[in-house]
Amino acid sequence: MSEKTATLTIGDQSWSMPIHSGSIGPDVIDITKLYGQTKAFTYDPGFTSTASCSSEITYIDGDEGVLLYRGYAIDELAENGDFLETCYLLLYGELPNHAQKEDFDRRVTRHTMIHEQMTRFFSGFRRDAHPMAVMVGVVGALSSFYHDSLDISDPHQRMIASLRMIAKMPTIAAMAYKYYIGQPFVYPKNSLDYSANFLHMCFSTPCEDYPIDPILARAMDRIFILHADHEQNASTSTVRLAGSSGANPFACIAAGIACLWGPAHGGANEAALLMLQEIGTPDRIPEFVARAKDKNDPFRLMGFGHRVYKNYDPRAKIMQKTCHEVLAEVGHADDPLLQVAMELERIALTDDYFIEKKLYPNIDFYSGITLKALGFPTAMFTVLFAVARTVGWIAQWKEMIEDPHQKIGRPRQLYTGAAPRDYLPYDKRD
Ligand code: SDX
Repeated sequence: MSEKTATLTIGDQSWSMPIHSGSIGPDVIDITKLYGQTKAFTYDPGFTSTASCSSEITYIDGDEGVLLYRGYAIDELAENGDFLETCYLLLYGELPNHAQKEDFDRRVTRHTMIHEQMTRFFSGFRRDAHPMAVMVGVVGALSSFYHDSLDISDPHQRMIASLRMIAKMPTIAAMAYKYYIGQPFVYPKNSLDYSANFLHMCFSTPCEDYPIDPILARAMDRIFILHADHEQNASTSTVRLAGSSGANPFACIAAGIACLWGPAHGGANEAALLMLQEIGTPDRIPEFVARAKDKNDPFRLMGFGHRVYKNYDPRAKIMQKTCHEVLAEVGHADDPLLQVAMELERIALTDDYFIEKKLYPNIDFYSGITLKALGFPTAMFTVLFAVARTVGWIAQWKEMIEDPHQKIGRPRQLYTGAAPRDYLPYDKRD
């Protein structure tokens, strides 16, 4: 079948550009030769219509509300598997068999401790430092401890660095939480699975053990699965761009954490809970919905809307179910914040403004209530998102490094500044 092409015409000149098709989803118009042919750039701030790469990892159909990790639907993975199975799938492309799963779990478990000297980094932060600030600093510092896994051209070192990142993020996140609340660090316990171990490191103390509630550990594990990867979102694109220069994987992940922190991205779960707390009671919802619709008011309903999903975020549905399970387990089934959230969702989904703009709850809308019920302060919400998203960042970074056509990312611009002008010597100025 002949290759599909697109034709661009400027004045009396026309250029033909190849169109590439993926396995599913939208085609792409290949403009790699556009500037050379036309001396013009494309212009797409926010990259709303731009594919930055080809990838086999995650597929999103925003109109249908579909999310696939390596072809498997997110709800099937969240219901049937565990987080380390999802990590293996995202990294290697296939679901692990029994031997592969046991080996992978063992290898990750053997990397959960961090170098003891790293504990000193924490005391350099103010006691009330936001845990995300600590995460950016400490994760970036990992590169100063693991010189044996910085040669990104060596597949073995790439895999060791990937395992270390996945294994150590919960330990560092738990330490950031303990530092934030003034409690001693708790070492990982290799007898526990990934998510139970994380809850253990966060909530046990030297004074008494923390009995692992299997329902809460399962909920934590499912929340990690839901947040594991999401195509070329802002933080993943940040990791890819940092990695395209050849920066080491630890530094790239630190860059991804920094980007995720923003309230328009991973910081939305913290912002959504603070918003629900500010609304307080269902009778105040109309006031906030009106503000969200007011063009002159910068307020937005946090946890609503999405660049890609113009339908219900499939993760939000599973998060809502998990929210109900956790609240029931901890005895807060009638949490007033949940009542406000469900009434806000009901009102928003029937409001013409939200219907017309296709604004639906996203993953961050219910996650805040769930994480609060699990015992985490709002300042830890985005840290938990970062723990989960590390495998997605690493898988996407690895895919980029292993792409033989990979080159450094270097976008251009539309220049709107001053035209060339002569320098005016200081003594000639007023
Ligand atoms: C995540 O990209 C990913 O995949 C991210 C993520 C992942 O897993 O990595 O899914 C995680 O970041 C989820 C999104 C969390 N953010 C929030 O919940 C913050 C609130 N949402 C908005 O800030 C916004 O919806 C974005 C940032 C998520 C998306 O913004 P876009 O794609 O740039 O869309 P837009 O801002 O152009 O909005 C389109 C219209 C605008 O109105 P008009 O200018 O066209 O008149 O919808 C309006 C916006 O004003 N709008 C909202 C709104 N979100 C968009 N109005 C009220 N409340 C909102 N939440």
